Amino acid sequence: MTAKSDLDQESRIVRPPATLLVIFGASGDLTSRKLIPALCNLAEDQYLPENFIVIGSSRSKLSDEEFRAKVYDGVKKFSRRPISPGVWEKFAKNLHYQPCNGEVLGDFEVLKGRMESLCSEFKTQFNYVYYLAMAPQFFGPIASNLKEVGLIEDFGKSSRRTSVVVEKPFGHDLASARELNSVLRKSLAEEQIYRIDHYLGKETVQNILVFRFANGIFEPLWNRKYVDHIQISVCEDIGIGNRAAYFDQNGILRDIVQNHVLQMLALLCIEPPISLSDADSIRDEKAKVLRSIKRMTAEEVKRNTVRAQYTKGRVGAEEVPGYREEKGVAADSSTDTFVALKLEIDNWRWSGVPIYIRAGKRLPKRITEITIFFNKAPDSLFKGRNVGELEHNVLSIQVQPREGMSLRISSKPPGPRFRVRPVEMDFTYDSSFGVASPEAYERLLLDVMKGDPTLFTRNDEIEESWDLLAPIFESWSSPDAPPVLRYEAGSWGPPEADELLKPMRHSWRKL
Ligand code: BG6
Repeated sequence: MTAKSDLDQESRIVRPPATLLVIFGASGDLTSRKLIPALCNLAEDQYLPENFIVIGSSRSKLSDEEFRAKVYDGVKKFSRRPISPGVWEKFAKNLHYQPCNGEVLGDFEVLKGRMESLCSEFKTQFNYVYYLAMAPQFFGPIASNLKEVGLIEDFGKSSRRTSVVVEKPFGHDLASARELNSVLRKSLAEEQIYRIDHYLGKETVQNILVFRFANGIFEPLWNRKYVDHIQISVCEDIGIGNRAAYFDQNGILRDIVQNHVLQMLALLCIEPPISLSDADSIRDEKAKVLRSIKRMTAEEVKRNTVRAQYTKGRVGAEEVPGYREEKGVAADSSTDTFVALKLEIDNWRWSGVPIYIRAGKRLPKRITEITIFFNKAPDSLFKGRNVGELEHNVLSIQVQPREGMSLRISSKPPGPRFRVRPVEMDFTYDSSFGVASPEAYERLLLDVMKGDPTLFTRNDEIEESWDLLAPIFESWSSPDAPPVLRYEAGSWGPPEADELLKPMRHSWRKL
């Protein structure tokens, strides 16, 4: 069977049961850019529940019609493909708007009335999904008001499933993440909380598990005996847009590494879980990896971390301002927009394998890649042949924008001379599957409606990741911390990021 017909088979997937989705923060960017376009794409593929209602909610006073018009603009602008007018019309019929101030209990009574009246038009029971697309300080009040008016059922005690999706950032550090969790747990069971990390919904990231566990040839090599080192790069060409208020308080280590990078690393390095169909067995293994990452001493933070901030420069054809000149950023801000780290997973499988991470804004291009460098072959057989030093075999998982994988092997170019040259064996999703990958939010929204938390981050994973970054934050804010370095926008970061790899004679992969 070809890959394409496999995908056709999948279009017969079981739709989730009847669902009413309430999006809090519905007048914000995420709703128009990501959530509603993702839902429309699910509608286009007929993956949505047969009975499906969406209520957008925020403080703004909007009518249903105004809300529909607003988000339809977003669909036209941001959907990964055009949505057929017929699909939009059908979808829009069940799209509503209800103003609600998250801190006013009375508004929740009204919301409840609206939800019940909309559901009563169908002859079936609806599960409730609440999507909190807003700042974390509102999570607690919303959850407690929902509970108070009876819109959150006790977990396991009712045939109606109630789930709450929370967006990042989940805390600012370990203490605030714990606090946030305890606030949510007053109204919800852990099983009802879906902490979203959209990287886990990306096809290439999900493929890490299939790649590792559905192929017999790689797993035996997946350990310190054969892997020389690992690199993970999340490079963005964009700056901070209009998100200065959020970004300047957080920086790239919190924005990208604490969640997206550590989640990818955890999946890449887990032990085989008991089952791939049981959310907790995968999440147990991920939590173990995060727990095994060596916590750094203050001295190690100095040696193994580099942080920097972009100055003005040129990205592609565009002249761009420096970070401190961005609107809303303090003129003396020391927030990191680039970070490079050397980590080690101190467990039996990975001990001694350096893991290099870099993430940055205003780099030359947008690319996310995970690269595994295998040990070099001994060059004894090639002595006197003038072939130069043998290179690492390199497996690279290209998360975006060109989704795919490549394996670099050494080979003899044709001709009478005995030479060795690296060649790439390449697979791209585009050419192999012939269909565009869905957006991460499509997969994740569908999973919440089905009640599958596998691709959502469990609380212990969040806490472990904050815990392992804590010594870095502490050192960076100490009085004798080295100053934040500078790099020109459009460069690959400061030279110190290259120095980080030199002691082991490594270098960053050219992207
Ligand atoms: C978000 C970060 O989580 O991920 C942004 O807050 C970043 O700063 C974005 O730009 C990157 O996501 P993607 O899917 O474009 O790689």
